[in-house]
This record gives sequence, structure tokens and C-alpha cells, in this order.
Amino acid sequence: MTTASMGVIGVGTMGSALALNMAEKGHNVALYNLDLKTIDALIESAGELAPKLKKTESIEALVTAMPSPRAILLMVPAGKPVDLSIDALLPHLEEGDTIIDGGNSDFRETQRRTAHVEAAGFRYLGVGVSGGEEGARHGPSMMVGGTPQAWEPIQEVLEAISAKFEGDPCVAHLGPDGAGHFVKTVHNGIEYADMQLIAEVYGLLRDGEGRAAPDIAPLFKRWNEGALQSYLIGITGEVLAATDPQTGKPMVDVIVDKAGQKGTGRWTVIEAIRMGQSASIIEAAVGARVLSSERDTRQIAEDILKDASGCDVVDQFDEADLESALLVGRILAYAQGFRILKAASDEFGWDIDYARVAEIWRAGCIIRSSLLDDIAQAFRGDLPDDRLILSDHFAPLINEHIAPLRRVVSKAILCGLPVQALASAIAWFDEIRQARGTADLIQGQRDFFGNHGFERLDAEGAHHGPW
Ligand code: 6PG
Repeated sequence: MTTASMGVIGVGTMGSALALNMAEKGHNVALYNLDLKTIDALIESAGELAPKLKKTESIEALVTAMPSPRAILLMVPAGKPVDLSIDALLPHLEEGDTIIDGGNSDFRETQRRTAHVEAAGFRYLGVGVSGGEEGARHGPSMMVGGTPQAWEPIQEVLEAISAKFEGDPCVAHLGPDGAGHFVKTVHNGIEYADMQLIAEVYGLLRDGEGRAAPDIAPLFKRWNEGALQSYLIGITGEVLAATDPQTGKPMVDVIVDKAGQKGTGRWTVIEAIRMGQSASIIEAAVGARVLSSERDTRQIAEDILKDASGCDVVDQFDEADLESALLVGRILAYAQGFRILKAASDEFGWDIDYARVAEIWRAGCIIRSSLLDDIAQAFRGDLPDDRLILSDHFAPLINEHIAPLRRVVSKAILCGLPVQALASAIAWFDEIRQARGTADLIQGQRDFFGNHGFERLDAEGAHHGPW
């Protein structure tokens, strides 16, 4: 199989980093960007890689500059710019050429675009790229969706530029059309959950114990040496330790407490709910970002809505308890994420290899953590009902650390400290392990007001109550 020649449209932060990464692995890369000066700046800063980068001044020129078969990577903002780029490319492509969308696109858009490009006689890949600028430059994790015919000519290039976990490239062809972007969306949902769990623990230490950021930082650095080892715990330690060069204050203390979001966390929740899956920890994280943006209201409400518990001083949170709480919260967030992947894989017939997903998340991506190797192994083994939480590895681990999570959440709630994600984790755990739930009553109510019927424990068929 001939390896495709590479082109990049959109040389912003991520596009530039990926182009340099490809050049470093020996590939010539044709570049096009609406603002041509950005390409000049990239080539000027590329040093010895500059000869591998070719500036082109139009989309047609980009295609002409590339030998066939071509693979043209779109690194433009998700949404309309992707469609505009595709429409500009189509008249110039030849048989065997592939358009690759490397942005955070909605997987449904990717499904639509795949059909559109294939109908025009060309190939299309939706590729979720994770790892931020640093990852894109030195090794991202990549989640690929599309046909095998589209994947094969670029497999070698993507494997070369990807992160490696003990030599294993963190890139995989996961299924057709939208599969790659769906997996990336769920990756981001888990990313939101993990970030929120971490932020809540930071909040307990800051607002519960009155500890300053530089005093909290070493704790995260220590945790990053243990069971919580992960990219997000690691950068949390660094962010908390940083000082604002302008004021000399801890950097976090001068950052406005409003979190942005571009949509992937919200999409994860929307798709999960649509498919009848619980994504409660991810939902809590999305909800917390929403409330964070309502800063004006929060500032007024602090004086009006009082904490009636009278608890304004918190005993110390046990640090080992906080570590355990984060660990269980993270495991349950991954578990919810993988259930959403399973639901989508079943619905769309993608046949996603969950172990492979965990494997390509072990390095390069934002949610990389030491847990992912164990998750991959759990999925490679005999997993009851494909349920991570029931695995021989994770069930005992959860059982061991659940009491600390319960203690942390109880104390936080008694003292009026917000822990949406941690509380969702414990609530989800308590519900999923309850053999006899309370939906008997829900069914009774539904039958009472709507004659909906219910199943009986002691007889087949649909039944009604005596109301
Ligand atoms: C990654 C990140 C990256 C980006 C997301 C989340 O995997 O490298 O997920 O894709 O950070 O767009 O962004 P928001 O927090 O703005 O939604």
C-alpha cells in the first residue's frame, strides 16, 4: 500500500504542531492557511525542518503540489470551516485522495461529511486528536474513524507521529465514519469529569481547610507518584505551584473562576442520555462548568443563600481519603465513558475494541493515566456484562476505596462545599450495586396515572395495580 502524501489546511496551534511532527518523521508537508503569513511564520521557525514544509497559496495549489494519493488534514475550527474546506477541495481531488478532519467535530457531522465526500468519489476520515499542542508536536493519541481503504495509506504516517506507550503507537482505526470522533468526544467527557473531580478536591482544601495554592501543589505532586498517576494530576500540581509574574500571587488566585467549554463534554452527555446511558459524573462536570459561568449570580447569592448548617470551619480532610475519593471517582468516570462507547458501538454497529481504546489512551492524550493499562487488560479479559466495575481488578479496588469517597462527600455536603462530581460518583455507585432498587414504586406510579402496566416478580406478562 502506497503511503499518501500529506497536506495540512489550517496551520493554527494544532495544525502547525502536527505539520512539524510529520516533517520530523521525514514527510514532506504541503501547507495552506487563509492567512498566508501564518505559514511564513511557521516555516521561519521550523529550523532544519523548514525544507520539508511547502507553502501553497490556494487550496488548488495545495492539491497540485502534492503527489497522488493525497491525504489532506483539516485542522480548522469545528463546524462550518470544515464544510467550506471540503467544498473547496472536492473539485481538485483525484481518485484515491483522502480528506482527514483532525478537529473536535461532532460525530454526526462526520457521518454526514463521510457520505458526502464518498458520494463525490473520494475518501474521508474523522480523526480525534488528543494531547494539546505539546501532544500534537511530539506525539498525540489519535482515534480514527473511516473505511479501511482510507486508513491504510495514512496508517504509517499517523503511527509515526503518534505517542508511544512502551513502543505501541497510540493511534487506532476504531470503526467507520463517526466512530473516531465519537470516541474522542467521550474522551473529552471523561476529561471534563476528571478535571472537575480534581477541582472539587482543590476546593475542599482551599475553602474547607483554608490552604493556599502553593501549599496544595505538593500534595498533587505526591499523588502523581502513586495510584493517581496521570497527566491531569501532574499538571494540576504545576498549575497550583505557579506564581503570577505580574503580581507575585499564586497564578490560580488571579484567574477568573469561569470555565469555558466548546461542546464535547455536553455532546457526551446528550448522546449518553439519548442512548439511555447514565453519564452522571460527566454531566455533573458539564453542569459545574455551566454554573461557573454564572459568576454574577454566584456573587450575589453568596450573601443571600446562607448555609443553615452553622458549619463554617471544617476539620482537616484526611489526605489519604481525598486521594481515594479521586481514584474511585476517576474509575467510575472511565466506567461511565466506556458504557457510552458500548451503547454507541451497539447502536451504530461499529464493533469498537474497548481494550484498544484504553490502549491508545495510555499515552499522548489528556486523560492518560496509570489506570488505562489495567482498563485495557480488564477489557482483554473476561468482563461480566462488559462492565469495568465488575472486573477482577476494579471491583476490589473500588470496594477498598469507596468508604473514603463516602466520608469526603459527607463532610463536604455537611459543610456546604460543592462536590457535584464526587457526589454523583458515590450516588451512581450506590445505585448500580443495589440489587433491589426503588423503581418498583416508579412503575406503580406510572401505572396509577397512566395505566402503563408493570412486570411482576412472580408472574410473566404485563400487569396492573388495584388502584
Ligand atoms: C485534547 C483536548 C482538546 C481540548 C478540548 C476541550 O484531548 O487534547 O480535549 O481537544 O482541550 O477541545 O476543550 P474545552 O474544555 O474547551 O471544551
